[in-house]
Amino acid sequence: MDIGIDPYLEWVKGEGVPVIEDFGVHLPEVATAPWPRYGVDGAAVHLKGRGDFVSMFVLDLPPGAASAPQRHLYEEVVYVLSGRGSTTIERGDGGTHSFEWGPRSLFALPLNSAYRHFNGSGSARARLASTTNLPAVLNMFHNEAFVFANPFRFDERLGEPNHFSGQGRFIPVRPGQHMWETNFIPDLGAIELKSWDERGKGSKNLMFILADGTMHAHLSEMQAGSYKKAHRHGPDFHVMCVRGEGYSLLWYEGDPDFRKVPWRYGTVFAPPDRMFHQHFNTGAHPARYLATAFGSLRYPFTESKRRALMSAGEGQGAVATSVKLGGDQIEFEDQSPRIHALYLEELAKNF
Ligand SMILES: [Fe+2]
Repeated sequence: MDIGIDPYLEWVKGEGVPVIEDFGVHLPEVATAPWPRYGVDGAAVHLKGRGDFVSMFVLDLPPGAASAPQRHLYEEVVYVLSGRGSTTIERGDGGTHSFEWGPRSLFALPLNSAYRHFNGSGSARARLASTTNLPAVLNMFHNEAFVFANPFRFDERLGEPNHFSGQGRFIPVRPGQHMWETNFIPDLGAIELKSWDERGKGSKNLMFILADGTMHAHLSEMQAGSYKKAHRHGPDFHVMCVRGEGYSLLWYEGDPDFRKVPWRYGTVFAPPDRMFHQHFNTGAHPARYLATAFGSLRYPFTESKRRALMSAGEGQGAVATSVKLGGDQIEFEDQSPRIHALYLEELAKNF
């Protein structure tokens, strides 16, 4: 029967790469295999809560290797899990932008720009983990040539030339919504974040606008001995630990128990649609996680993202507005007492 077709999943099958499907995945341990399109090894990662629009890819660059030239009509936000190298992006006028990355770098591939990744080390592998909106784009057009061999140029997506060198533009909005517009962040472990105490004392964050894309990315920090407030929203926020250690609890309203996801560097999970989730730092240092999604503060794209990020509660978004006020955040005084008790138990294991 010729029904129920998912052109994205058909495409992945045709690529012949491993597909890892799970609730959460530890990206440094994902097994990869040759990916002819890229000329290096790779894998696709499909999280339970990835929603309709988003998927992840892992690429392995052997020492000294380069990926085959690519261009595509979907957005891609790349995180460097390990290794050092560079990426070259072609401009429409024939010039190029090159930038050097290392562990914890984050960058975007501007829409439909030709690019290549290079491993700059002669001895160490490099592993890249990217979040893409290819499912949305392939399921929209279901024509691979249109998506992978399209000559249209989006010159405006390249942004300022210095956006490839780690420079950017700070755009103040309000705590929790301050934005940094750039194409490249050298180290997510080092970039300065902004305070957001409403999410929990000592909490910090920063939103990124990368290559003026619709993909969302933000970085969040919680101090040692602390945790964030619980909240919920639609699917496809991919939460990945970039520093520290801890765990997250997830539950649907009315569930008798929590689902627990322990995380450390490189663990990623995506809270499924409307599932409450809460992040806990059990380490001795601040913990940071990156969240990527489709639909951002600048371009929410869906009503669900608009509500989550900006339109509920006095503009700060449902993710930061108490459920008692019509939002989707559970204040500390309203949370189940089991949550804090469990946190103390987990801390006791480490200290
Ligand atoms: Fe969330």
